Amino acid sequence: AEALRIGIAGLGTVGASVARVLRDKAGELTRQCGRPITVTAVSARDRGKDRGVDLGDVAWFDDPVELARSNGIDVFVELMGGDEGAPREAVKAALEAGRHVVTANKALLAMHGVALAEIAEKKGVLLNYEAAVAGGIPVIKTMREAMAGNSVSRVFGILNGTCNYILTRMEAEGLTFEACLKDAQRLGYAEADPTFDIEGNDTAHKLSILTSLAFGTRIAANDIYLEGISNITQADIRAASDLGYRIKLLGVAQRTESGIEQRVHPTMVPTASVIAQVHGVTNAVAIETDILGELLLSGPGAGGNATASAVVGDIADIAKSRPGFQHGPVFGRPAKELKPYKKAQ
Ligand code: NAP
Ligand code: HSE
Repeated sequence: AEALRIGIAGLGTVGASVARVLRDKAGELTRQCGRPITVTAVSARDRGKDRGVDLGDVAWFDDPVELARSNGIDVFVELMGGDEGAPREAVKAALEAGRHVVTANKALLAMHGVALAEIAEKKGVLLNYEAAVAGGIPVIKTMREAMAGNSVSRVFGILNGTCNYILTRMEAEGLTFEACLKDAQRLGYAEADPTFDIEGNDTAHKLSILTSLAFGTRIAANDIYLEGISNITQADIRAASDLGYRIKLLGVAQRTESGIEQRVHPTMVPTASVIAQVHGVTNAVAIETDILGELLLSGPGAGGNATASAVVGDIADIAKSRPGFQHGPVFGRPAKELKPYKKAQ
């Protein structure tokens, strides 16, 4: 069968891992998808940088927008990060050119996801973004595909691996905030600008996507109460522990009588609770619904391999889809039919 041709823009922690997994698992993926998946083109800023993966036979583009429009790819994989400039233009260009898109970019989706979904749905192509929320945990597929008919009342969880890693090590090892953040950056968990992690913006971006899937509303990332963990000290952690609690950065979205409440803030959770047992870079998402009851998903929330697992899963879904196949809507219902967001009073 004909190969699915992949163009990857961004060869950092996630992009290089995706390229490596597609190479190392080529045989297995071909067997699973019924056709080969081949990286035919890439883009990044520095052509000379060693990416730890052989890209010798792959076309190089200095301009990711040019790559997005190239006739040499079927799928554009955006792994650059950021909600404006090249990533936004490139994803838009790829969708308009009729290419499927896979992205891990929650900032872009939180700000422009609905507009991009409208283009994808008009063009009949896929915009897949499993890696954008909670790293390797398949929460998007779960909410978009496996929970049909359920009415969600609340979705909440630990959505940022960097923050949970910092809080866990501060508590378990008595380390300083700064030392833990440095390690999270070294391990590839943090955003290019780690302020997004520690001030809660990244959690808010992810929460806003979950809110849209849960309640069928347009994404409202700027309507979230926001408080990060940068002011949490050893004294706070010890005081919480003395009272039988742990501090976790939670994102919470729930339906109320007056509208939808969305908030992100450090929260004291009882030490014996399940959410308090989520350690390190692990994320957890709890979803409460009328039919299913309470679902809790947990797993690796950041890092090259965990994120590549979700990106490759999205690519494999495209490889398995066949011409003429009707794709489901990007946010669970057609973008044009998403309800206006009404904030709780
Ligand atoms: P990263 O390590 O900073 O890598 C970013 C890559 O994008 C680099 O290869 C960089 O090129 C390239 N790039 C940036 N601007 C570009 C431009 N204008 N044109 C061409 N290439 C450009 O970031 P990352 O951690 O892999 O994250 C990538 C995306 O995945 C982000 O949206 C992030 O939020 C998301 N994500 C990350 C994780 C994680 O654990 N790291 C998990 C889930 C989602 P150079 O290398 O040449 O500088
Ligand atoms: N910086 C993010 C985190 C990457 O730490 O959770 C995964 O989205």
